[in-house]
Amino acid sequence: MQINEVNIGIIGGGNLGRSVAEGFLKAGIKSSKIVITRRRVHLLEDLREKGVQTEKENAMAVIGKEVIILAVKPYQAKELLSELKPQLQPGQILLSLMTGISLAELSEHVPEGVLVFRVMPNTAVALQESMTLISAPECDTAVQKIVGDLFETLGKVIFINEELMAAATVLGACGIAFALRFIRAAIQGGVEIGFGADVAQQIVAQTVKGATELILQTGHHPEQEIDKVTTPKGITISGLNEMEHQGFSSALIRGLLVSYNKLNSGK
Ligand SMILES: NC(=O)c1ccc[n+]([C@@H]2O[C@H](COP(=O)([O-])OP(=O)(O)OC[C@H]3O[C@@H](n4cnc5c(N)ncnc54)[C@H](OP(=O)(O)O)[C@@H]3O)[C@@H](O)[C@H]2O)c1
Repeated sequence: MQINEVNIGIIGGGNLGRSVAEGFLKAGIKSSKIVITRRRVHLLEDLREKGVQTEKENAMAVIGKEVIILAVKPYQAKELLSELKPQLQPGQILLSLMTGISLAELSEHVPEGVLVFRVMPNTAVALQESMTLISAPECDTAVQKIVGDLFETLGKVIFINEELMAAATVLGACGIAFALRFIRAAIQGGVEIGFGADVAQQIVAQTVKGATELILQTGHHPEQEIDKVTTPKGITISGLNEMEHQGFSSALIRGLLVSYNKLNSGK
């Protein structure tokens, strides 16, 4: 099956659910192929104006859909799945975007034969720049390909074992916030050394984009690119070393671990 033939239901049109819909539209998936739901359906008016079917009734995003995407909060999952169970049919693909709910837990609440995947994108889906990590059940590779292809329209995709899903959540989904905090701090520093906030933001954002592209396009280790910028006794290495004396790398790694441990402890 081609991606543009797939009928997609998105349940939970909040921050992430609506961003996924926007990303699909940008990727050229026809609006007539997408149904999106939330209880306060009036908040999806902008998507309705773009031709997406917006509904209060979740059944509308399940019946006749090859792919159903769940994007409600994790604590809302159980109630939602018991509501959906009577409508779900074997062979339908159910993609859970919800953090911390295992494939085994999800499978307990759906009829046998429904193909349940965990999918962890980040909020860059709306711009087709997501890093999406996917854990697949044991199923036909053609089915896995449909799911992979669908999310490749929204950025990059890596299939991972489910044991790595918590780590993927921290590095990929929380990672957006971590990267943005670096950007914010650099802007604040930029203002202190003379730029207005708007210009500082442009400089930092484009510089970070450039650094990212250097890694993505060359495959180089970051330190290899850093070496090119650090003249012996120069200003860059002095600044970098001071950042490290103040715990830059350590703070980041420790923050990642706190998020990871919190996610694993379920608190
Ligand atoms: N934000 C991220 O970066 C990110 C990344 C990866 C994964 N996730 C996961 O994605 C999920 C959604 O996160 P979010 O940030 O988008 O949360 P959110 O903004 O709160 O969106 C959830 C939406 O679900 C709707 N909803 C709740 N109960 C519903 C029901 N019974 N039927 C239909 N819609 C219902 C809510 O709208 P109404 O109240 O109008 O119904 C709400 O807008 C979470 O499980 C989160 O773990 C988020």
